[in-house]
Amino acid sequence: MLLISVSYILEKCKIASNFIEKNKLNEVFVIDSFGITSDSTYMIATGERDKERLTILNEIYNSFSLRFFKNCNIQKGVRVLELGCGIGIASQMYASEVGKEGFVLATDISEQQLQVARTLLPKEGISNLEFRRLSAFEIDGLNEQFDVVCTRFLLVHLQDPEKVIQKVKKIIKPGGKLIIEDITANHTFFCSPHTEGMDILRHIDKLQCEVQQSNDEYFAFLPTLLEKEGFTILSTQKVHPKLDNPRKRKSILFHLSSLKEALLGTGKIMEKEYNHMFQKVLELEQNSSIEIFYYEFGQLCATV
Ligand SMILES: C[S@@+](CC[C@H](N)C(=O)[O-])C[C@H]1O[C@@H](n2cnc3c(N)ncnc32)[C@H](O)[C@@H]1O
Repeated sequence: MLLISVSYILEKCKIASNFIEKNKLNEVFVIDSFGITSDSTYMIATGERDKERLTILNEIYNSFSLRFFKNCNIQKGVRVLELGCGIGIASQMYASEVGKEGFVLATDISEQQLQVARTLLPKEGISNLEFRRLSAFEIDGLNEQFDVVCTRFLLVHLQDPEKVIQKVKKIIKPGGKLIIEDITANHTFFCSPHTEGMDILRHIDKLQCEVQQSNDEYFAFLPTLLEKEGFTILSTQKVHPKLDNPRKRKSILFHLSSLKEALLGTGKIMEKEYNHMFQKVLELEQNSSIEIFYYEFGQLCATV
């Protein structure tokens, strides 16, 4: 039993360190005696290379996020902290919702993402929105408290979402609201009828979780986790978007290509195999008689 655990941990370390070396990651990365912890082992490309994928992702999910934000009864004038804002499209939406008297501090660990986010701002800027490089694990260093903390598609990529939640507790005002939106599980990404292209997408999702040491099903445990940290759940819901136009369908190819470098970096997938995968996913994208459902989207609002 002990031998199995040791070799399991060694294998995980090998995959992760191979990946980091090949991708020249410069984030803080600490290997502890039980496994791997880090500020980020985020595998997806960032900056210009992921701009189109994230733009389409926003087109798929923003209407749901906006409706949920409104339903959480977020008032004008509040101060919002966003974690893992990416290229900041939703950040602009939140800034508009809280009005000129409110404020959004949109943070991300990647300067490349924030650079793109700034280019997407209107020429005159948005006076109540600031982008700042900050890891979600460092928010307790901020010397202010916020009325609202929101985060979308971040925690699913982290090895230890609980740690972030503990830090949120420190910087959220009493009575403040925490909004978490994320995929509910990788296997909720499916098509009908099933194809090899979808098997491939599922396979790379699995590999991604393995390297990131993340749990794609953490959303199911969120209520328990939050209650343990002293939060009260106010509302939760799920939606399951269909990729119902050719542009949205393109997201599946972007999904694969944004992971290309990282996948090759694991040493588990070779260029030739990647090209085969690309071909199969392209066939799926282009066959409009096959319905594709993107990840089920979980939305949760809690208060302290
Ligand atoms: C899938 S993107 C989601 C972007 C955005 N929230 C959206 O919904 O369009 C995840 C983002 O989390 C960022 N990220 C990864 N690890 C992070 C960390 N430890 N702290 C803050 N941001 C992180 C990545 O750089 C990336 O921009």
